[in-house]
Amino acid sequence: MDRIKITGGQQLNGTIAISGAKNAALPLMIASLLTSDTLTLKNVPNLADVVQLGRILRNHGTDFTIAGKRPGKNKMQGETFHLTSRDIWDTTAPYEMVSKMRASFWVLGPLLGREHKARVSLPGGCAIGTRPVDLHLEGLKKLGANIDLEDGYVIARTPRGGLKGGKITFPLISVGATHNCLLAAVLARGETLIENAAAEPEIGDVARCLVKMGAKIEGIDTHTLKIEGVTQLEGAVHTVLPDRIEAGTYAMAVAATGGDVFLEGADPTHLQSALDLMIEAGVGIKIKKGGIQVTRGARTKLKPVHVETQPFPGFPTDLQAQFMAMMLKVPGTSSVRETIFENRFMHVAELMRMGANISQSGDKAEIEGVDELIGAQVMATDLRASASLVIGGLVAKGDTIVNRVYHLDRGFERIEEKLSAVGAKIERLSE
Ligand code: EPZ
Repeated sequence: MDRIKITGGQQLNGTIAISGAKNAALPLMIASLLTSDTLTLKNVPNLADVVQLGRILRNHGTDFTIAGKRPGKNKMQGETFHLTSRDIWDTTAPYEMVSKMRASFWVLGPLLGREHKARVSLPGGCAIGTRPVDLHLEGLKKLGANIDLEDGYVIARTPRGGLKGGKITFPLISVGATHNCLLAAVLARGETLIENAAAEPEIGDVARCLVKMGAKIEGIDTHTLKIEGVTQLEGAVHTVLPDRIEAGTYAMAVAATGGDVFLEGADPTHLQSALDLMIEAGVGIKIKKGGIQVTRGARTKLKPVHVETQPFPGFPTDLQAQFMAMMLKVPGTSSVRETIFENRFMHVAELMRMGANISQSGDKAEIEGVDELIGAQVMATDLRASASLVIGGLVAKGDTIVNRVYHLDRGFERIEEKLSAVGAKIERLSE
């Protein structure tokens, strides 16, 4: 199993190109199930989750070819996928596949929309929480789906004629349930209203792609989506939006180590709450043409800040662990309240192995800044937690070894290459 070795203490300087967003690329790939034409996706990041979803889609009948490999100048441009689901020959998404990646549960909506039936394994819990799918199922029922649970599978069927439009009002904001219901509603008969929809930029990206494919959607980027179903969708060409979580992670890494880095391709409008917080802490943030410049001088001391995770446009839960790592050496008490997931503090114990002073109780953690962190062996527990351990390693004295790097590979493209290009001492130890 690969590990990452980091020798801390280096400032970061230069440019990091931001990849396409994992959390948009996945539902965009799933959208290809909605049409027998070819959906071309550009700027797809090369990540383990993307590869895994490719396997799942192939199982349903999707063919795909990949062009635009990345050697040479265009190294930072993602890959181009041509996905064609001419015929869906299997409407089952098996446990062995769905359990490896939760987002694959989102095939349920499009399979129901196009094939009027689906059998999809329940995804189960994971390291960050129980993560139920009741909102997905309740939403799809509002579109007429009949749903049974059998042997850990969702067995879903539509009445004759397929799904029909309906009104879905989510009691709480869910990214996945919004994706699933949106991907179902575009092929339902009549109008669907989704209230209290998630408004994360990745949902807007998927909705824009669906519109290019012929879907009729109003209210994109808001909490109310109005969808007028169409009988069929066509192929389209779409470029995956930049990864705001990757951009935020590198911004926080620079804030922690000090230095001056241009995040090429990062979109500040997707990251405003995190940027505001970093500015409050004393980090230099400049919005420039084509990206964001992040600066912290060697002698600039950051100030403690307090943050609460919230659905977009609030501070993202996917940056909570990295934020904590950024504040580890900041004098005074910073704090985090995690309101989205009930168990997203697995990184705390690992960061404490490096000498961090964090006390956590319930949904709150307090970080007391320490003078020094010392490198250690640490264990990645989930994707974003792993990124916080990398940031911890970058500021710690001596060597840090991050074990279970496969978590990182699920969502950060070539992290060690990108960081070493701006001066970090970081390498992958392959076994
Ligand atoms: C998406 O997960 C993201 N995944 C997550 O990113 C992200 O952390 C999360 O949204 C919140 O922003 C992808 O986009 C692939 P939710 P999702 O449904 O859709 C509860 C990463 O690291 N809930 O918005 O699974 C749920 O338990 C990942 O890239 C229900 O109660 O998240 C949670 O407490 C991790 N019932 C809250 O809602 C439901 O039916 C928000 O979850 C669905 C959700």
